[in-house]
Amino acid sequence: MPFYLRPRLFLWIGGVVVTSIAVYIFCQPSGIVLRQNIWADLTEAEAIEVLKYVHSASPELNLTAAINASLWDNFVHGIEVVHPNKEDALNFMAGISEHPPPRYARIAIHHGTSQEVYWDEYLLGPLPVSNETKIKPVEYHHRADLEHARNLVPDAASFKEWPYSIAQEVSDITQDLLQATINADGESNPDGLELTFRDPWVKDGHILRWCSFQRAGTRFGAGTLLPQGLYVKLDTTGRDPAKWKVLNWFYNGMLYNSTDEFRDAWRSPGFRKAPINRDGDWTRIEEPTSDVSSRDHPAPLMVHPGGARYQLYREAQYVSWMGFTFYWSFAQSTGVTLFDVRFRGERILYELGLQEAMSLYAGNDPIQGALAYLDSFFGMGRAMFELVPGYDCPIYADFMDTFIYDAERTQQRKRTICLFEYTADYPLQRHSTTFYVTISRNHYLVLRTTAVVGNYDYTVDYIFYLDGTIEFKVRASGYIQGAYFMPGESQEFGFRVHDQFATSMHDHIINFKVDLDIINSRNTLVKINIEPKTKSYSWSEGEPLSTMSLTRESISNETGFNWPANSETMYIVVNNETQNQWGENRGYRIMPGSGIGTPGHLVAKSPQSLGKSASWAFNDLWVTKQKDDEARSSSPRNAFNKDKPVVDFAQYVDGDNITQEDL
Ligand SMILES: *[C@@H]1O[C@H](CO)[C@@H](O)[C@H](O)[C@H]1NC(C)=O
Ligand SMILES: *[C@@H]1O[C@H](CO)[C@@H](O)[C@H](O)[C@H]1NC(C)=O
Ligand SMILES: *[C@@H]1O[C@H](CO)[C@@H](O)[C@H](O)[C@H]1NC(C)=O
Ligand SMILES: *[C@@H]1O[C@H](CO)[C@@H](O)[C@H](O)[C@H]1NC(C)=O
Ligand SMILES: *[C@@H]1O[C@H](CO)[C@@H](O)[C@H](O)[C@H]1NC(C)=O
Ligand SMILES: *[C@@H]1O[C@H](CO)[C@@H](O)[C@H](O)[C@H]1NC(C)=O
Ligand SMILES: *[C@@H]1O[C@H](CO)[C@@H](O)[C@H](O)[C@H]1NC(C)=O
Repeated sequence: MPFYLRPRLFLWIGGVVVTSIAVYIFCQPSGIVLRQNIWADLTEAEAIEVLKYVHSASPELNLTAAINASLWDNFVHGIEVVHPNKEDALNFMAGISEHPPPRYARIAIHHGTSQEVYWDEYLLGPLPVSNETKIKPVEYHHRADLEHARNLVPDAASFKEWPYSIAQEVSDITQDLLQATINADGESNPDGLELTFRDPWVKDGHILRWCSFQRAGTRFGAGTLLPQGLYVKLDTTGRDPAKWKVLNWFYNGMLYNSTDEFRDAWRSPGFRKAPINRDGDWTRIEEPTSDVSSRDHPAPLMVHPGGARYQLYREAQYVSWMGFTFYWSFAQSTGVTLFDVRFRGERILYELGLQEAMSLYAGNDPIQGALAYLDSFFGMGRAMFELVPGYDCPIYADFMDTFIYDAERTQQRKRTICLFEYTADYPLQRHSTTFYVTISRNHYLVLRTTAVVGNYDYTVDYIFYLDGTIEFKVRASGYIQGAYFMPGESQEFGFRVHDQFATSMHDHIINFKVDLDIINSRNTLVKINIEPKTKSYSWSEGEPLSTMSLTRESISNETGFNWPANSETMYIVVNNETQNQWGENRGYRIMPGSGIGTPGHLVAKSPQSLGKSASWAFNDLWVTKQKDDEARSSSPRNAFNKDKPVVDFAQYVDGDNITQEDL
């Protein structure tokens, strides 16, 4: 039987302190009912089983074992667990169904035998493999026009070698303009040149991409600070580099239509050269010396005198702390997701997890001017690096490993998740009178990961507070990706931060899915507006007074909306079929987060470099009806398929009635 302790009825408003804080602080969970984690990632044994099955049972896929495969073969590109349908999961968690929902794997296959290289996805299960196990293509609801997801850069090696050979052909020009040549054939001259690429796109059947010349740099990772202001546009249609073409060169504000045209211009008198962006001490992170003597003294440090106050069940990926309980699950594309988040036995959230991290840059050159990243492609879970105790997380934190299944091999990634309790430097509540003071310490629980996607480090936190608030927070660090400084132009898109280097403005929009279940899955989103009002009262003897009041409005259809100006609207998910003893609905307020300002949505209108791949970024908040076939707002395979994405979130918002529905 699940542990079920009926909590007192409060209006749960995240972030707003409610009355009975002392109750939360002194309450310990009086029992934990741990069920199998039905959302857990595939085990190594399951992954092996899946691979064996797909190799033996699917001759029509014509698979080559990854260890022997080239990009001209078909091979298993990725394996991921499929989360169970919500109703099945709830039945199991509630004990209505004794057996856990069947486990399935989703596998992505690289199809490399023809001119058009693509991925497609299959469902394989139930697991463990039995005579009932089957494999079938994943059906893309809403996306009848999509046959498969194209891979526009299938042959990573030739997609590098060929542009490098183009760069070698212009060595005389780069030597003159940039005083360097390309680091071809694996050379690693720090003052040599490398090429970086913006995602390719398809136009009139052609696969096009811009490349930027960057200095390699003496420090690993500083390359994004060293653009040289020279760019080349390539047509890499098809898989035969002999048929690829150089289209344009761009240098010092001039666009040239061919290499010959660029070379002629360079040779002609009056050709205008731009200064070089050189590496130097300015790309260092560490200060070489410090004359602040007190820096050598130990800094304040948090300690954990009595040991952890949470219960961590590593195998089950389950945590219990101060009445909160939750399971977590890991995926290579999205990192950590929480499931079945409860307070004192009562479910608050069915699911809470990152879906996609998008960034869109602006600038005056062909790279920065249209650069867009969808980081689940690189893998917000796959990119999780080892956390540093005492720096990323307190020294006393618990650290957990994750497993990556890559090219049919398992990689254990050590210490990629940490869990710890922390005490804020301010109290949760306080009050003093002449005769007494009441004050509560402010402890919170953090589950943290850091994904290092290229130059960026995203730290993703899930945080539980004693006032009932559950917060997710993303912090970005790492190196900026900036632009070659162009006087009079770069200032429109950033700030000059070195001799020939400017920042590049960009939006980071990170999408999370929040499946709140207030009491049960029948919920309503209510907008509470704070409005100016003029009202006369009997006690004002009829004189109209300028004041304000609340209006309540249920959102009846799936829609997107933004954080209001002046915080004049509150968004609250309630269950309007149950009330507390004073007749108020129980609910959770959705707030824009603490400490990092109000998160924004995309400023650019329908940028071509995103197409339909991230339409969730156009508003701050969306509400849709929960559907098992709308489990994620994005796909790691949206990246090269922006006009016909694998997941087109806009199609989820199709007018469903959402009053007292699963949201
Ligand atoms: C890889 O290729 C070698 C040589 O053809 C073969 O002996 C081996 O069985 C292959 N490995 C797998 C896992 O198929
Ligand atoms: C199977 O794949 C191989 C390359 O691994 C390819 O040469 C062959 O043509 C493919 N067979 C079919 C029927 O597609
Ligand atoms: C699968 O095998 C079991 C025995 O192991 C048998 O009872 C069952 O009928 C089989 N099912 C199918 C679909 O063949
Ligand atoms: C380069 O091509 C564009 C159109 O593609 C054309 O407008 C322009 O005149 C060309 N420039 C030169 C110098 O030929
Ligand atoms: C629940 O919501 C519906 C739809 O907005 C509304 O008609 C009804 O009055 C609400 N019930 C309660 C008890 O608030
Ligand atoms: C809202 O939902 C109702 C009921 O499903 C439907 O009839 C109506 O067309 C929807 N409205 C919009 C604007 O989609
Ligand atoms: C939406 O559903 C609720 C509850 O089922 C119902 O009361 C309401 O009339 C529906 N709204 C519309 C516009 O159909």
